[in-house]
Amino acid sequence: MILITGASSGLGASLAQLYAEQDDIAITGRNAERLEQVAESIKRPINSYVCDLSDGQAVTHLFDALPSTPNMIIHCAGSGYFGPIETQYPDAIKTLIDNNLTSAILVLREAVKRYKNQAVTVVMVMSTAALAAKAEESTYCAVKWAVKGLIESVRLELKSSPMKLIAVYPGGMDTGFWPSSGKQANTVSFMQPEEAAGMLKHALLSTEHGYISDITINRG
Ligand SMILES: NC(=O)c1ccc[n+]([C@@H]2O[C@H](COP(=O)([O-])OP(=O)(O)OC[C@H]3O[C@@H](n4cnc5c(N)ncnc54)[C@H](OP(=O)(O)O)[C@@H]3O)[C@@H](O)[C@H]2O)c1
Repeated sequence: MILITGASSGLGASLAQLYAEQDDIAITGRNAERLEQVAESIKRPINSYVCDLSDGQAVTHLFDALPSTPNMIIHCAGSGYFGPIETQYPDAIKTLIDNNLTSAILVLREAVKRYKNQAVTVVMVMSTAALAAKAEESTYCAVKWAVKGLIESVRLELKSSPMKLIAVYPGGMDTGFWPSSGKQANTVSFMQPEEAAGMLKHALLSTEHGYISDITINRG
């Protein structure tokens, strides 16, 4: 079974549709209506859970509710917020931290707590903004760089564990991310979420003795 977060929209929704072709999946998002639409577009019964991943108790309940141990968790949930630092509002910055950093910490913490002695793969979707500084994206870079630090540190804690942590750095995708971020981006040349999902699924294939640990998906 594969658990996909951020599956009510964008990359997570496309991954859900792709993986559901051959795997049991469980999906989660906050918006019940959009999550339901994704679940209905999948032609087999799946488990879907409405959950705010920035809430520790809600994350624990989500994992309690799963029908079985997932062999893979793909954490796609996140959001954007942009602009020169002096124009950004504290409440919106807090939301950005909650949606990107707190959610990643809570999902990874819960996964490690429960499954660190099992061959579970945890895939954490960040952004190319976790790899390079970008003007007018300072707080977004800050949260994504923080998630990179989280992953690389927890990897050290998992050195003798069968659990694998995979870091994913996508470039621009044409999803609901941009309208919800408040930034008017021209997304014409951006990847469609189906394209990014297809490349990611391909890169997540592993063999008996190997796997791809860090995946950058550039647009071009
Ligand atoms: N789009 C891009 O250009 C781009 C580029 C690089 C990296 N990324 C990253 O890729 C990931 C997926 O982005 P996307 O483009 O697919 O965005 P999207 O279409 O806006 O989808 C974001 C998903 O995250 C969920 N989410 C956000 N905050 C949450 C929270 N606190 N608890 C639970 N779910 C939450 C949303 O749920 P609801 O809608 O149900 O609230 C939605 O399902 C994000 O981490 C994003 O930062 C995006």
